[in-house]
Amino acid sequence: MKDAAPQTIYLKDYKPFGWIVKDVSLRFVLHPTETRVFSTITFSPNPDPAAERRFFLHGEHLKLKSAKIDGNPVSVDITPEGLTCDVPGCDFTWEAEVEIAPAENTALEGLYMSNGMYCTQCEAEGFRKITYYPDRPDVMSTFTVRIEGDEPVKLSNGNPAGQGDGWAEWHDPWPKPAYLFALVAGDLVNHPDRFTTKSGKDVELNIWVRPGDEGKCAFGMDALKASMKWDEDVYGREYDLDIFNIVAVDDFNMGAMENKGLNIFNSSCVLASPETSTDANFERIEAIIAHEYFHNWTGNRITCRDWFQLCLKEGLTVYRDSQFTSDLRSAPVKRISDVIDLRGRQFPEDQGPLSHPVRPESFQEINNFYTATVYEKGAEVIGMLNRLVGDDAYAKALDLYFDRHDGDAATIEDWLKVFEDTTGRDLTQFKRWYSQSGTPRLKVAEDWADGTYTLTFTQDTPPTPGQPDKAPQVIPIAVGLLNPNGDEVLPTTVLEMTEATQSFTFDGLASRPVASILREFSAPVVLERDQSPQERAFLLAHDTDPFCRWDASRELARASILAMIRDGAAPDTAWLDGLERVVFDDTLDPSFRELMLAVPTQSELAQNLFEMGETPDPDAIHRAVETLRQAMAERWADRLPRLAKDTWVTASYAPNADQSGKRALGAAVLSLTTRLDGGAAAQAQYDAADNMTLQLSALGNLIRAGKGDLAVKSFYNQWKEDRLVMDKWFGLQVGAAEPDQAVEVARALTRHPDFDWKNPNRFRAVFGALAMHHAGFHRADGAGYALLADWLITLDDKNPQTTARMCSAFQTWKRYDAGRQAHARAALKRIMAKPGLSRDTSEMVSRILE
Ligand code: ARG
Ligand code: ZN
Repeated sequence: MKDAAPQTIYLKDYKPFGWIVKDVSLRFVLHPTETRVFSTITFSPNPDPAAERRFFLHGEHLKLKSAKIDGNPVSVDITPEGLTCDVPGCDFTWEAEVEIAPAENTALEGLYMSNGMYCTQCEAEGFRKITYYPDRPDVMSTFTVRIEGDEPVKLSNGNPAGQGDGWAEWHDPWPKPAYLFALVAGDLVNHPDRFTTKSGKDVELNIWVRPGDEGKCAFGMDALKASMKWDEDVYGREYDLDIFNIVAVDDFNMGAMENKGLNIFNSSCVLASPETSTDANFERIEAIIAHEYFHNWTGNRITCRDWFQLCLKEGLTVYRDSQFTSDLRSAPVKRISDVIDLRGRQFPEDQGPLSHPVRPESFQEINNFYTATVYEKGAEVIGMLNRLVGDDAYAKALDLYFDRHDGDAATIEDWLKVFEDTTGRDLTQFKRWYSQSGTPRLKVAEDWADGTYTLTFTQDTPPTPGQPDKAPQVIPIAVGLLNPNGDEVLPTTVLEMTEATQSFTFDGLASRPVASILREFSAPVVLERDQSPQERAFLLAHDTDPFCRWDASRELARASILAMIRDGAAPDTAWLDGLERVVFDDTLDPSFRELMLAVPTQSELAQNLFEMGETPDPDAIHRAVETLRQAMAERWADRLPRLAKDTWVTASYAPNADQSGKRALGAAVLSLTTRLDGGAAAQAQYDAADNMTLQLSALGNLIRAGKGDLAVKSFYNQWKEDRLVMDKWFGLQVGAAEPDQAVEVARALTRHPDFDWKNPNRFRAVFGALAMHHAGFHRADGAGYALLADWLITLDDKNPQTTARMCSAFQTWKRYDAGRQAHARAALKRIMAKPGLSRDTSEMVSRILE
């Protein structure tokens, strides 16, 4: 059956479903190509007068075998999206039998197979590929699931309700929407543990993996227990079932999924060992385990009324997992890393053709809205709310939210109301953060007269698709004031800006202060500050706010690189002097020093030039960054060996903040050293490495030094059986390639026998790395665009969701010169012209082209 023509769904059209689902009972008879799904669902008319009156059940790619109402066969009207039929005006029982083919499901949505194992992904609208159902988040019900099959392990949501030869039953007592349904069956082994909740409930915990991966579960299990404890301590939230299962799956479109009591993870986001995972992998795994666990309250017990409210659960849960990471590791380092990520992923989205509000108002394919804007900007909006009301009021509002909405499918209006009711504030204007897209630009002017210092801010948000005019937003601006001697005369204070232009005065000051503005990055805005290099250098040296200190250096780095590109200037030695004092200060946290040592990404520099009305030249940007890095290496040549020594870890490997900070700084030092010694230190590190963090950074430097051939081969031979390590091998070769080689390297890798393009991790390893290789992807002759387009066209038939996500590599195409634009447009048009293009990809490409 062919998919129907794309339809646009609007938030304003929301209507409740006309029936309440009281209970769902499912029976699965598993078979790779002929799985039978028997459903028994009790419906009761919804008394809400606003509810839809048409009885419509979603269902896609299903073979209906039989349908009955109250035991009698019924005739139904089937379309590609679902079915309708006549139903009684009172309570009734619906029974259906459908057949599906999990082994043929390459879209990895609904019930599918990965390496011989059955698994599901239902968010957002995948349950309709399993059986006929009102597949919308506001329809919540209890589920009983019986699984029949020879697989030794058979799992579903909730608590175990019995098992026997060839069958297992599960019962989930908590009403839930269908997108949280999950089923797993296969030959799996578990890493077991237990957790006692604060009220004394004993919970069985398991991480289920394929045989052979048992040794990679311990870290994830510790992260799970830490998350359970943290949510009790910080949010007062306890776990609510007898068992919590996590399953690792090799073929998965996203990172992980919070199915009730049965989280399913992309294996890359849960399996870890020192030999095969980097420190960055460990930190990410810890955060994702926490994220999915935290969803049990923010997402599952309180879910979303409709998919427009996605940020209700995702923004809040990202905010919660960032608090968790800050508490477990370093808060300033986490904040700076999050800002790097926001500026690197969310800002380009918000400032380009894919810009959409944190709460979108329309979509064709909801999977295209699992974006940096919904997730990361959604979390920033909650951070602002927290900052505006203060920590105590935030905690009270959250308690009220859980009390008032437990068991509900809620909206952003409900969410804001608990803050209004807790604080008495009117959040009407604040709500614009949810409805206006685009990144506000915040200009600041300073004035000093008679002991009074005045900061005047002006906000302006450029037009975005569908939103030509913007109203002023509430912007919390955290500022601090420093004396010329570096003392802080005003500790961090949050200014609440509500007007288009607004002044704030500070009096009683003995001398003109230096302002540190947007401390902790208190709002997701672009700060436009005309500040002298001397003042920036002063903040780099003295600011007590680590984020602003880091950002001062970042601004100086940016200015220096832009001057190198435009006027062929030499690297700014005044900045390097200031930077040197931080980087070589061994009283500071090594991971903070590593962040200081990094320069803005090439894509970010391209965006800066574009915003200044210039056309970025990716090759010139690449050359300038190379020149700067070389200058850094030469300037510090004598001191690098000493610094490298400071980063050595003598204790046995642990992926904690302390050790990983040292290794991160060590990797930054190695990349400078490699410019001077041609790869000798990298080779030594490669040969001695006993963990993946050291091995991989050594390999990257060897490739960059042109000395990687042998190591690339030996790495392959060492790790060819490990899929996750091989993903790194594929990605690194593209990422570390010279700009004029990246496309050829990627193309050659697609011909490697281990390039399994149907596996999303492997596809992303190669093409995600290519898209991230700024000068390589944006090659003047368009070869990068063409290669990616070829592969997106190929992948779309099999896996629309991953194809559509990868399209965002093209979102910045209008920054560049006419030649590159023509190549990008041609590539996008070629994708668009593909017969039978999926709704997912067609929506993305048409938005990008507009
Ligand atoms: N809710 C999941 C998470 O953020 C993501 C699921 C995304 N799935 C999708 N089909 N877009 O934890
Ligand atoms: Zn999430």
